[in-house]
Amino acid sequence: MKFQRTGRDNVAENVRFGLVGFGAWGQHHAAAIAKTEGADLCAVVARTEASAQKAQAEYPGIRVYTDYREMLKEGDLDVVDIVVPSDLHFQITSDVLQAGCHVLLEKPMGISIAQCDELIRQQRATQKMLAVGHEFRLSSLWGKVKQFIDEGLIGSPQYALVELSRNPYRLGADGWRYDINRVGNWILEEPIHFFDLARWYLEPCGDPVSVYASANSRQPDHPELQDNFSAIVNFEKGGYAVVSQTLSAFEHHVTVKVTGTDGALWASWSGAMDRTRHPTFSLRAFDGETVRDVPIEKITGELFELEDQIAMYVDAVRNQKPLACTAEDGRWSVAMCLSAQESVDTGKVAAIPKLS
Ligand SMILES: NC(=O)c1ccc[n+]([C@@H]2O[C@H](COP(=O)([O-])OP(=O)(O)OC[C@H]3O[C@@H](n4cnc5c(N)ncnc54)[C@H](OP(=O)(O)O)[C@@H]3O)[C@@H](O)[C@H]2O)c1
Repeated sequence: MKFQRTGRDNVAENVRFGLVGFGAWGQHHAAAIAKTEGADLCAVVARTEASAQKAQAEYPGIRVYTDYREMLKEGDLDVVDIVVPSDLHFQITSDVLQAGCHVLLEKPMGISIAQCDELIRQQRATQKMLAVGHEFRLSSLWGKVKQFIDEGLIGSPQYALVELSRNPYRLGADGWRYDINRVGNWILEEPIHFFDLARWYLEPCGDPVSVYASANSRQPDHPELQDNFSAIVNFEKGGYAVVSQTLSAFEHHVTVKVTGTDGALWASWSGAMDRTRHPTFSLRAFDGETVRDVPIEKITGELFELEDQIAMYVDAVRNQKPLACTAEDGRWSVAMCLSAQESVDTGKVAAIPKLS
């Protein structure tokens, strides 16, 4: 498709955002953009008239569309933030890049490796930025774990456990999250964040190479919707990660343990729900001699990281700063999830395809 003009390359004034998707998470994106210094929420695309009217009522000064192609034709945006059901990520991202705008794309980057590879190709060809919404990387808590690893507090990292117990997933608009053809698989929903974290923490162990996974469901008619999921990921230099999740529990509780040749880190986050503004969280660090409680000054949780993600993007556009999670990172996370699903299906270890 063709558009009238490309997005601006030099952004001295506020970064102009368009948002595609005004659902449960998209509305939080809108609020985060609206409150971020240096960002302007200029347009929202919603699918139904009801959502469009809600967006217009909440943000009277913006343009609202029901077709994202109409928004792109205006040609006055710097960044398009894409927060729609996962089966739509590929086509909308491709069209936005071709229209000359930078993209902030919610996870998962795509629902196939072919989609991710093609988006990386387009991102490189268009020289636009493509960030993927793995916001855990912006957390004061999960980021502190990374900082300690990078500083050598635990020696060489060898093992990472990322575990979540929570209540069931939301249905999503029209129930898309419970339709396997639209969601891809449930590993791409939440465990994908934990694969991303594990790979981030075990960076010194090289690329992830293989995965063995098990899963089951408590829904007899829908065995493909897995309530319990666990995987072991092997990395090329010998480290490994365990990613485990249950949706059959209560509230929202995440635990991370990373051990190395010289020490260990133990972090946890708990809330009545994932989007709470009142979580409890802690980090304990062991340097091989002493265990200490590490104070985390800045509150953490996905609502807070979402705001930091928007601020990160504004900084990246204005000051050519690096993205917290690149298209290549997003592709690795999808690759780990799809290989994990292959392992669940076959009962065998599955290879994780390398970046081409
Ligand atoms: N990073 C994270 O922590 C995180 C958290 C939650 C979700 N997500 C991701 O964010 C995405 C959206 O999730 P959600 O929970 O917000 O889903 P949701 O509540 O179902 O919202 C999806 C929205 O997309 C809209 N939509 C559907 N097709 C569209 C189209 N062609 N053009 C414009 N809008 C369209 C729907 O419109 P209507 O309202 O008009 O039906 C709905 O508002 C998913 O990819 C999900 O994986 C990420």
